[in-house]
Amino acid sequence: MKFFIDTANLDQIREAQALGILDGVTTNPSLMAKEGITGEENIINHYKAICEIVDGDVSAEVIATDFEGMVKEGEALAALHPQIVVKLPMIADGVKACKYFSDKGIKTNVTLVFSAGQALLAAKAGATYVSPFIGRLDDISTDGLNLIEEIRTIYDNYMFDTEILAASVRHTMHIIDCAKIGADVMTGPLSAISGLLKHPLTDIGLEKFLADYKKGN
Ligand code: G3P
Repeated sequence: MKFFIDTANLDQIREAQALGILDGVTTNPSLMAKEGITGEENIINHYKAICEIVDGDVSAEVIATDFEGMVKEGEALAALHPQIVVKLPMIADGVKACKYFSDKGIKTNVTLVFSAGQALLAAKAGATYVSPFIGRLDDISTDGLNLIEEIRTIYDNYMFDTEILAASVRHTMHIIDCAKIGADVMTGPLSAISGLLKHPLTDIGLEKFLADYKKGN
């Protein structure tokens, strides 16, 4: 299972990278705005800075919502760095653009996916990644993990290459449940990733080991 961090915060990306378990980064316009990154030039420089920190795929989202605009913007983003993955919204023109980029061998991430049907379309269009938003489904009393299961079944039935990128992950149990189901990738905040480290018995056990060592030395 690949671990992506879902942030545009460079310190948090560095921290996750330093752990040695980071496979990539996902961003979106809201995450960029949260870091105060505005204006085309600043946004482009920020993507480049992220690519310098990590070795894996970095999703950069287009703002255009029409086919021509998405193609223009996506081509410019893809040209920034070999690690850039063009992130496209799950709308008709986004599906068309996904097919366009996949035919050209440019990686894509189809985002804002909330149903198995949308995920099927993304796979048919040759998406590299599909991003079902599990937390936002949970927010409206709909089981987000159920969607991951449905997509896993469909993709396995037809051996689609599209990777299921569980997005809108909010906490450690989302990550563990996605791993049980067989999501290929999860993208979440640093807090969810670091949360996997924690167990009180680990802390108690380590304290005891160190105390016993000190007794004998
Ligand atoms: O990965 C998608 C993500 O950024 C959305 O997360 O927590 O805003 O639903 P959230």
